[in-house]
Order: sequence, then C-alpha cells, then structure tokens
Amino acid sequence: MSDTKQQLEKIIADSVLELATADEEGLRNIEVRLLGRKGEVNRVLSAMNGLDAARRAELGAAVNAAKQELEQAIAHRRAALGAELSAELAENDWIDTTEPGTASAAGHKHPTNAAIEKMSALFERIGFRRARYNEAEFDHYAFESLNMPKDHPARDDWETFFLDAPENKKWGKQVMTPHTSNAQGHEMERRRPPIRMVSFGKTYRRQSDVTHLTMFHQFEGLVIDRGINLTHLRGTLDHFAKGYFGADRKTRLRPHHFKFTEPSFEVDISCGLCNGTGWLANDTGQMANGTPCRVCKSGWLELGGAGMVHPNVLRSGGIDPRLFSGFAFGWGVERTMMMAAGMRIPDIRLIYNNDLHFLNQF
Ligand code: PHE
Repeated sequence: MSDTKQQLEKIIADSVLELATADEEGLRNIEVRLLGRKGEVNRVLSAMNGLDAARRAELGAAVNAAKQELEQAIAHRRAALGAELSAELAENDWIDTTEPGTASAAGHKHPTNAAIEKMSALFERIGFRRARYNEAEFDHYAFESLNMPKDHPARDDWETFFLDAPENKKWGKQVMTPHTSNAQGHEMERRRPPIRMVSFGKTYRRQSDVTHLTMFHQFEGLVIDRGINLTHLRGTLDHFAKGYFGADRKTRLRPHHFKFTEPSFEVDISCGLCNGTGWLANDTGQMANGTPCRVCKSGWLELGGAGMVHPNVLRSGGIDPRLFSGFAFGWGVERTMMMAAGMRIPDIRLIYNNDLHFLNQF
C-alpha cells in the first residue's frame, strides 16, 4: 500500500523536470503517458483490485490527489507557454495599424472603349444618333442591299467569315459582318429621313498583321435628308478630325470605288507614328534612314471609306433617291485610335493581347 503511494510520488517527482521544459507537443505526450486511459496513474489504480473497501477508498483518494497535482502542473506549464508565445509575438509579429494600406487595383476602361466613347461624343455633338446593329448578319444586309449582288467580285474585298448556320430564304446566308455598313439597310428600314446615325460595332475579316486584326471595330456614319451633298460629308469629316486628332493632323480624300457609294473616297489621315513622313525616327529623334514606318504607307494612314449613298442602296432601304440623298462613311476604330496624338502603338495586335503592361499605359 505504501508501495502504491511511493509509486505515485515517484511518477510526480519524475515528471517535474520534464514538465518544466516541455513544449506544447511534449505536454500532450506527458498528458497521455501519465493521465491517459492506459496511463501510468491508471495502472497504479488497477493494482488496487482485490483490496478491501477501506483501503481502496484511502488509495483512491491518494490517486485522485496525484491526478489533480499533475493536471495542475500541466495547466501551469501550458499557461507559461502561452505567455511566452504572446510575448514573442508582441516582439516579432506585429503590424502598424496606422500605416497606410496597399490600394487594391481598380480597373479602367479598355483603350478601345475609351476611344469609342470619345468618338461617339464628337458625332453626338453634331446631332448623330448612336446605333448598334448585328455582328452576325445576313448576306442581304452585309452585301446585297449595298449594291453588291451575289458573285460580284467587289465582295472579295471583305474577306468574310461565313457562319455554319441556316440560310434565310429572303436574306440569304449568315456571316460575321465584315463591315459596319450593314447598319445602313437596318437604319433605313427602321427610320425615315432625316437620318443622322453613327453605329459602332465589331467587324470580322480573315486577316492579321501589324495593321489588321481578325476582329476589329468600325463606326459607320449615315446621313440622309433632302439636299445632302459632298460638302456635308467633308464638313462632318473635318469636324471629327479636328475634334479627335487635333489641329496638327491632316486628312485627305482619295477617289476610290465602293459599290454602295457614288462617288466614293478613301479617307486618309497623316500618320502619328512618323509624323506624316513615312520614316521612323531613331531613339535620338533623328530620322533613321532606311527605316520605313511600320504602320503607314508614305506618311498617310488609310482610315476607311466614304462617299455619297448609291441610289440603289437608298431604294433597297425604301427611300426615294429622287427626293433624298445622303452620305456614308466607315472607319476602323483601332486605326483611328492609333493615329491619335501620343498613341505610339507600333502593332495593332497589341491592343488585344491583354497584357496589363501595355493596357495600363492608357
Ligand atoms: N464599309 C466600307 C469598308 O469597310 C467603308 C465605307 C463605309 C465606305 C461607308 C463607304 C461608305 O471598307
């Protein structure tokens, strides 16, 4: 019996040193080893089987006292460890709550969207209504109603993607619209003159190089009223060029051919990358002989077409060409944007590479 008490005392005495230095994991091990269901204390308890009731009570009290002593010692060490840890954290792991935080990155408009808004505002200021028509379009609106009958070679200029979609009896096959001129037919069907529309939209062609994208944006202008003539077209283009590019950029009209306008022109603007010279300057700002501008052709960049709406197109839209006349123009948004002041973009494809190093500059 005193044997048993001695055993208990030994267990306690042996654990003192170990407890004093144990870490959290050590504490858990000691707990299991001494106080666990099959632990040392309980083993002492099981040795009491067969003793009489009085002795068992006496020994039981001793075991309970030993248990309590051990539990307290463990709790004590655990509290000390906790205090040590918070002291250490207070020393090494703290934050200055008065320090300004890191700002989270806020997005901004894609340069193309910003350009569309700026362009659109210029046209809206002179009374154009903003419209938007189909990207997936019927042959009728993309070609036929624009005076380009089936199999006409003029269609070859629009390297068109045809959709694998059912053909419509009246309007023909479906295409990804290769230009925003499809807006002309829709607008004439929906509204009566006077019409003053500018329609921005995505357009698709089978092409890709430094000045061409498979998907790009165009804007289509359409004005139809009584007595509209070429001077109205020139005035509108000048208003836009001055407003968008600034006074130092020049525009010119070059005679051209489109089936849906007569007469037809191509609208050019002096190149902003080479300042209309056709040659690229080197890093020191001098003209580097023999380095032609990568973007333009000899100082001019072609923005798109324009002209007086062809009588057949008016007729197809249900408008009598004897009473009304009009002009139309269609330009590329990305090209127009690339020619703006300060936009030294050497390759049109950069605009859609989604590289933030590039996009964050705008
Ligand atoms: N749709 C023509 C193009 O994509 C541009 C254009 C529009 C020409 C309107 C004349 C009138 O090239």
